[in-house]
Amino acid sequence: MPDDPVPQPVSTEERPGPIFRTLLRFDAVDSTQEVAKLLLGRGADEGTILVAKRQSAGKGRHGRAWASPPGGLYVSLVVRPDPRYVATLGLLAGIPVVKALRHYGVFAGLKWPNDVVFMGKKIGGILSEGVYRGDAFYAVIGIGVNTGIDLERLPEDVRARATSVKREVPEYVDNDDFLEYMMKHFEDIVSKFRTGTRDRLIKDYRGLCATIGKDVVVTTSQGKLRGRAYDVTPLGALVVMDAKGVKAEVVDGTVEDVHSSP
Ligand code: BTN
Repeated sequence: MPDDPVPQPVSTEERPGPIFRTLLRFDAVDSTQEVAKLLLGRGADEGTILVAKRQSAGKGRHGRAWASPPGGLYVSLVVRPDPRYVATLGLLAGIPVVKALRHYGVFAGLKWPNDVVFMGKKIGGILSEGVYRGDAFYAVIGIGVNTGIDLERLPEDVRARATSVKREVPEYVDNDDFLEYMMKHFEDIVSKFRTGTRDRLIKDYRGLCATIGKDVVVTTSQGKLRGRAYDVTPLGALVVMDAKGVKAEVVDGTVEDVHSSP
């Protein structure tokens, strides 16, 4: 009989919820995102958290790789949002990551859409993917945080632009504690999101977003846009105002270059 291609968790734990009640732990996987998608409908449903100690093919946004050596936190969360708001939820997922980092002593912020940065260096990232299984729409929200990573373990090109909790704070931070703290805030966001208080959540996002007010170059599928990051809309688009005062909304893109405003 051929081997089952779906990796098996080393443990399955119950959580108190209210939404995320199952925690699947893995040692090494290619990507928790891919495992989550394989497991949809066969062990993973809304409210499942997948966490791995390391990944051999961690995925970042826009087809980039996410270096995933041991010590980091690699998580995928399965939710069933309204498909119209999946990008907004992915954006808001940055809030609990920043809150957890600040709780553990790293005063991080968000670079739009949801790069988690500290002193201009990347410390975490979020990849939100929408998937259908039959008629059911799922979002798999992947969160990677450089918690207990020695920077030497990262590829050289990544290392120069990255930092880790281990590098920034002297105390040891346990990944399970970090995850629990982050999940408490994530559950809160999903609950509020469902009860329609998204505008309030976007206000929280704006408060943590280090991009607003900066001069930016945004690379989108339609080309580059230069101007000042002016605001984030209720659905999560970045509003960029050019030198003539003309505003444009960017739904997806990479803020390549952020200079401090005078
Ligand atoms: C980015 O900033 O480009 C997003 C990085 C997302 C990485 C996380 S780690 C857990 C989950 N599994 C993956 O393969 N990617 C996400």
